Parts: sequence; structure tokens; C-alpha cells
Amino acid sequence: MADQSVLHTGSHDLPVTPALSAYMSDQWAPTPLSADLRVPGHGYLAGRLARIAAAFPGERLLVPAGQLKVRSNDCDYRFRPNSAYAHLTGLTGEEQVGHVLVIEPDGEGVLYLRPRSDRSDGTGAFFRDRRYGELWVGRRADLAEAANLTGLRAAHLDDLPKLFTGSVPTRVLSDVDPVLDALTGRPHADHTVRDGQLAAALSELRLIKDPWEVEQLQLSVDHTAAGFADVVRALPAALRHHRGERILEGAFNARARAEGNGTGYETIVASGAHACVLHWIRNDGPLDPTQLLLLDAGVETDTLYTADITRTLPLSGTFSSAQRDVYELVLAAQSAGIATLRPGASFRDFHRAAMRVIAEGLSEWGVLPVSAEEALREDSGLYRRYTLCASGHMLGLDVHDCAKARAETYLDGVLEEGMVLTVEPGLYLQPDDLTLPPALRGTGVRIEDDLVITADGARLMSSALPRTVDGIETWMGELLSER
Ligand code: GLY
Ligand code: MN
Ligand code: MN
Repeated sequence: MADQSVLHTGSHDLPVTPALSAYMSDQWAPTPLSADLRVPGHGYLAGRLARIAAAFPGERLLVPAGQLKVRSNDCDYRFRPNSAYAHLTGLTGEEQVGHVLVIEPDGEGVLYLRPRSDRSDGTGAFFRDRRYGELWVGRRADLAEAANLTGLRAAHLDDLPKLFTGSVPTRVLSDVDPVLDALTGRPHADHTVRDGQLAAALSELRLIKDPWEVEQLQLSVDHTAAGFADVVRALPAALRHHRGERILEGAFNARARAEGNGTGYETIVASGAHACVLHWIRNDGPLDPTQLLLLDAGVETDTLYTADITRTLPLSGTFSSAQRDVYELVLAAQSAGIATLRPGASFRDFHRAAMRVIAEGLSEWGVLPVSAEEALREDSGLYRRYTLCASGHMLGLDVHDCAKARAETYLDGVLEEGMVLTVEPGLYLQPDDLTLPPALRGTGVRIEDDLVITADGARLMSSALPRTVDGIETWMGELLSER
């Protein structure tokens, strides 16, 4: 593991004299964490641990938080722990860098972590280490505090390599922590298995959200709705700026940092033909008031759950007739998709229902070279020239949650109560597409909402944001006339 005795200092850090070191080492008041403090969602951790342990009887499982990624030189990107680690430990902060959750064959969880450094240990790490020092990046828990916060046993990260000297079959969630991968991939560690089955099982553990997770996702959706309103309020200033898309990105991202950990993915602010690029995150265009704006964004909570919502808005506040036609078709497709959602429905049903509406609409417009029926056939799919991507996905700690789940439990599986997903059909009518009438070229519309499957259907979590043409125009009008 990372050598705890190495101090991470910068080339411009001044040398520390023995006198300063001695002076820094004492006269500090104790600052213990409150004994009542627990990680959010604490009550669900033991059940998750037991379920993943039961999937691999007799094995030791290693789930790392991950390592810092260098941005340049001695500056790192902001750290966010791996979702599987956050799900099993409830620990979500930047100080989780390099920590590893070990699940022993008997199901006991042990957290291997870098504890708060002792201020009198002679290293001066707490004030000298710019990566991990308390006076550089903030307080860490000591071993007893970490155990109390999580209900897990806590051990020093330096002791992790000792686990690889025995003969316990060990399975590692690989490709998350290169330090752990190097350690467990060594030739002598031939009892160590590094395969995808653990990744798949950890993804599948998150397919059904517990009530606390649904609450977190609702919180994320609510903050996201507030961020969308902020974007509409920022429109007048953005329309005057030569990079109006960036002004709007800033408005949403400010809300995400103010209310949560940040954005759950890079905010997409796509005006005019930029909306035909599915993940337009350059966001460097000006705004043309005659065009539409596609905003796809989500606030990630401090507990790391994210929403994923898209609205397509007329920059003038009013849809033109051609814009309305495209919008209404996507809305009808989305409504048809949402209507299929219930326990027992196939995951693919909402996609199929939405795409049928889209294909029939494109056929009515005379855009398709074949009938809607033929375009929808699995050996054809010609309508996909205009839709490009699938119509939704699981949502949770990751925007594309449960991504490693096996096809039989996800893509080819059935919906169950407690699953949370997006429904997000779109039409992306490229500006240079000669199959399209010129009036439609350069129009991109996506409508994306977040839903939780209930006992007898689905609940629209993002109903605070209007979806209909009239609803959007009224909502924008109200926001733009404030004060
Ligand atoms: N924002 C990415 C997606 O909608 O899937
Ligand atoms: Mn999505
Ligand atoms: Mn999205």
C-alpha cells in the first residue's frame, strides 16, 4: 500500500526546522468526534454486507474506495469514492482516498484506512502533508471513530498487505484502485482472484433501492429541479453573453455545489444544433433566442446519489410551431414509455413503447424510407438514425447505475418494486441530415424524467418540473417575470 511514512510535499514548500517541528507537536486541545455520530443510512449497511458476503461463501472480498488522480504535477482532481465502497460503508468523503473495505468469509466488514495522524508522532504529517495532512485537507477519523461511524471493524491501511500472506481465497473489485491492483496482482498472490463476478454482484446489489436510498434520490431530484429554475432565471444574462451556454452551466453547477456534493455527471447545456450531440459538455456556444435549449443535469447529494433530468426549453420562452411538433412527438413517446412501468414488466418494454411512437411519428412526417413497422423490426432499426441511443437506464449512486449487472438481471430482466430509472426518449435531427425537411434540421429534443417502481406502477419523482408545452411556457414565464 501507499507508504504512510512518505510525506506529500510540494516543490515550493519551505523546509521545516527541528525547532518548528517540536513547537508544532504539542499544546493542541483534544477534538473528538461526537460518540453519537453515524454515517447516513447506517441502518442498511449490515444487510448489504450480509447479502454480498452470502454471494461468495468462504471468500474474502476487497472493495476499494480508489486513489487520487493527478490533474497535473502536484495537483489532484477532487476525489469521490467508488460507488460500491460508498454503498457498503456509508463513507462518501474525499478523505476516503486509498481506503479498502474487506469483507471476511464470515461476513465481518473491516475497514482498512489511513487514520488521523498523531500530532506528536514526530513526522509533522498533520501540517506538512498536502495530500493527507489535517491542516491541508481536513480532519480524518481515527480507528475507533471510524468503527463507531460505520459499525465496521477498523484497521490501519498499512496492515492490509498482511492479508495476502495466508491462503484465504480472495476476490478483488479490480480497476478501481491501481495500488490495490498492483498488490493483489503480484505473482506470489496466486490465491487472489480478480474477476468481474464481484463487480456484477455489487451492481446487482444496487438494482433495488431501499426506502432510504429512494429518499436520497428524491432529495437529489428536488435540488435538480431547483437548479433548472436557476437556469431559467439566468437566461436573460446568458442570452447577452458570447458563451451563454457556460453562463447556464455555471448557474446549475452553483446550485449543485451549494446543495450537494456537486453534479452527478458533467452538465449538458446544448443550444440549437448542439442538442443533436448526445453528450454536449463543451457548453461553449452562444444562445440564439429563436432556438431550443437542451439542459441535461443532475445534483449529486452529499451521500452521492444523483438525479438525471433533461428538459428542452424554447430560449424565447415560447415554442415555434416546428419546435412544438418535434417536442410533442418526443413527449408522446415518453408518456407511452412511462405508462408501461410496473413490477413484472420487461426492462425493455418502456423503450419499445417509446420507440413505436417515435417511428410512427417519423413515418407520418414522411422521413422514414420504409414503414414504421419495418423500421421497428430488430433486423432493421432505421428509425435509430434519429434517436441514436437507448431510452433510459437505472439511476442511483451512479448516473448509469448498476452498469456491471448481468444482462439477465438488467437489460433482459424485469422491473421490480424499488428500482429507480430514467425514461428519456429523444429526437436528434442533425443539421446536415439530407433525409430531413430543412425546417427540422438542427433540432434536438430530449425529455428525461426519474421514476421509482412502486407496488402497482411507477411514481414520477421529477414531477416538480413541467413536461408539457403549455406547462413549460407557463413555468418559464413565471420565472422570467420574477421581480
Ligand atoms: N446524462 C446522461 C444520460 O442521460 O444518460
Ligand atoms: Mn440518462
Ligand atoms: Mn441525462
